[in-house]
Amino acid sequence: MLNKQDKENLVRRAKEARELAYAPYSHYKVGAAVLTADGQVYSGNNVENAAYPSSLCAERVAIFKAVSEGHRVLQAIAVVTANGGSPCGGCRQVMREFGGKQMVVLIADESGMLMEEYTLDQLLPRSFGPEELPR
Ligand code: THU
Repeated sequence: MLNKQDKENLVRRAKEARELAYAPYSHYKVGAAVLTADGQVYSGNNVENAAYPSSLCAERVAIFKAVSEGHRVLQAIAVVTANGGSPCGGCRQVMREFGGKQMVVLIADESGMLMEEYTLDQLLPRSFGPEELPR
């Protein structure tokens, strides 16, 4: 279970990461921070590209940083945007892979004010996940 301090810390890390976002095309900066099962935090931001589809969302940068360092089980993610925007569908599916249906998703605005809180299952109902595939 996440306590108030865990949530505040995750939002703060996402807010800090947002400042380093590389978004010269959309000018829409996003920061994200994930909390691993063992309590570590990895942050990320959106990294755009002149060839637009080669860009990557903040949530996926943060998740892939954690996973690439060996953290495959995630408890929560905080996402910070100017206006409290919600994670895209592709990122929700990646959250499903490593956070499962009960992953906590915190959405905050650029001041760091927590605006919304969901479980991933609320954001991606009836989702497809790893357990659907034969082992
Ligand atoms: N973006 C994210 O980083 N996360 C989302 O969930 C939505 C969109 C980024 C992608 C692109 O760099 C910019 O925001 C505008 O779409």
